[in-house]
Amino acid sequence: MPSEPVFGNVDATQLSMVVENLLENASHYSPEDTEIALKLRVTPKKIEIDVTDQGVGIPEEQMSKLFQKFSRLPNEFSVQVGGTGLGLYWASKIVKLHKGRINVSSRLGKGSTFTIALPSS
Ligand SMILES: Nc1ncnc2c1ncn2[C@@H]1O[C@H](COP(=O)(O)OP(=O)(O)OP(=O)(O)O)[C@@H](O)[C@H]1O
Ligand SMILES: [Mg+2]
Repeated sequence: MPSEPVFGNVDATQLSMVVENLLENASHYSPEDTEIALKLRVTPKKIEIDVTDQGVGIPEEQMSKLFQKFSRLPNEFSVQVGGTGLGLYWASKIVKLHKGRINVSSRLGKGSTFTIALPSS
């Protein structure tokens, strides 16, 4: 934990929706009894939030579809959990409005990390 307060110029309601969606996805697209980790990193210029799961992962060739409107990717949980395919679309819009970035790294069958990077002020 940082010893001094960190300031980011953010809309707290919108940003918490983004983090909630990432946590919800991590939970939806992972088997029971696997770990989900939330990490915060603070540097002089940016604040980074990682959400890491040990879930199904995302195939490389489907990555470009992740943030598109109404885009749902087929996986072993997607039919069962349902969803609109809007969560990541809105997440990327909100992060961009904050002049930030959202990145994904994933290994099929091993898990995924979604990282939000926001400029600190
Ligand atoms: N952590 C993850 N691991 C594996 N696949 C994921 C993960 N997060 C998202 N996905 C895939 O990306 C698709 C889009 O995610 P998104 O959050 O935009 O929509 P959704 O979860 O399907 O529905 P909702 O709009 O209710 O959130 C999901 O349908 C899922 O296939
Ligand atoms: Mg979702």
